[in-house]
Amino acid sequence: MNVIAAVDRNWAIGKDGDQLIYISEDLRRFKALTTGHPVILGRGTLATFPGGRPLKGRRNLILSRNPDFAPEGAEVFPNLEALLAAAPEDAFVIGGASVYRALLDRCDTAYITKIARSFPDADCWFPDLDRRPEWRVAERGPDLEEKGVNFHYVTYRRI
Ligand SMILES: NC(=O)c1ccc[n+]([C@@H]2O[C@H](COP(=O)([O-])OP(=O)(O)OC[C@H]3O[C@@H](n4cnc5c(N)ncnc54)[C@H](OP(=O)(O)O)[C@@H]3O)[C@@H](O)[C@H]2O)c1
Repeated sequence: MNVIAAVDRNWAIGKDGDQLIYISEDLRRFKALTTGHPVILGRGTLATFPGGRPLKGRRNLILSRNPDFAPEGAEVFPNLEALLAAAPEDAFVIGGASVYRALLDRCDTAYITKIARSFPDADCWFPDLDRRPEWRVAERGPDLEEKGVNFHYVTYRRI
């Protein structure tokens, strides 16, 4: 499976249940990479989407232990085992922190947007792939900038 995330210099990914920052160019890339593939996410991340609605053009496989949680247009799984039995190999794990932690070991490609900033008030993180010997940088994109925010894309592969 694949995993995709946007991280700051310290691999932080969110605060107060929301993203640290929204970069339009990164959102376009996220859409281009994931459309046509299933996406795997936790209930917390679904809540950050407009109207709390699933993403269009993709199967939305959502983890939640709440048996009453049944959002229209999504498939809900009560545990990892049930999710993994349903998740195809081309799926993208799209967050949040708890789902990244749980499924990183099942992924072999990681699409990471590295934002050249530090957010000291962040409250959740992606595992630092630069400190994980099983992950290697396969590709580093050019330095990009949007509205004064510098960022670049790094693709990691499990060796
Ligand atoms: N920067 C990025 O790329 C990025 C991407 C995505 C999200 N985020 C950020 O990440 C943060 C959210 O992360 P989070 O960890 O709080 O929430 P989350 O992982 O999105 O969702 C957590 C919820 O998922 C369900 N869940 C998780 N593991 C489960 C399991 N093994 N079995 C059954 N259900 C399970 C539970 O739902 P129930 O409570 O319903 O049981 C749990 O409360 C936000 O700040 C968000 O903006 C950042």
